[in-house]
Amino acid sequence: MKKTIEEHAARFSKIASKYDESQDSEEYRACASLVVHYADPSPDDVVLDLGTGTGAIALALAGDAERVIGRDISEGMLDEARRKAEEVGLDNVEFGEGRFRDPNVDENVDLVVSNFAMHHLSDEEKREAIQVIADLQPRRFVLGDVMFFGTPDPDEPFYSPEVDLPSTVGFLAEALTEAGFVLTAVESVHDQVGVLVAERAPLE
Ligand SMILES: C[S@@+](CC[C@H](N)C(=O)[O-])C[C@H]1O[C@@H](n2cnc3c(N)ncnc32)[C@H](O)[C@@H]1O
Repeated sequence: MKKTIEEHAARFSKIASKYDESQDSEEYRACASLVVHYADPSPDDVVLDLGTGTGAIALALAGDAERVIGRDISEGMLDEARRKAEEVGLDNVEFGEGRFRDPNVDENVDLVVSNFAMHHLSDEEKREAIQVIADLQPRRFVLGDVMFFGTPDPDEPFYSPEVDLPSTVGFLAEALTEAGFVLTAVESVHDQVGVLVAERAPLE
């Protein structure tokens, strides 16, 4: 059964202190580094990382961006992210509560990134979230996540039907296009993991 936001938040808060060491798969690392690679911020860019967790992507981008905003539903994960930012002396990253469909951001942003997080939303929730992201007027949205390139297979890694609701690549491509993005890259890391790069033409 679909988990509520509160259930996901509690589940991640419980594992927050051990989360980083548990992300040891080659595919997770490949996906994260592709997201960082395609995000490619400029020094004056404001970047929003949705489902930031312990800040893996936000912290990796902070050195190249003006500012990074990390949003997540799990206070435990956010505490870890804040601790890590302080540890490495980054003061241009801010972590706080925010959801895909209500990111708690009151400004437009230049880039939106998300890694291994959006698959907790249903298809319709993802469609809404993608529109919310588009409304923040980023020039690029880089989505790394569990997504189906072929037939869903719970016996393969990265897809646990009791907690995950990944979409097909086709569904995501359609939702991004509907929201005004143009898909400029599709990377398959695994049959159930990929990175989509979506760009928007700058507004006149
Ligand atoms: C597997 S972790 C990924 C964290 C990080 N992006 C990374 O690459 O390591 C998924 C994160 O998504 C967050 N999450 C789940 N549902 C969310 C939602 N609706 N809005 C924002 N974050 C959400 C969880 O709390 C968790 O921290």
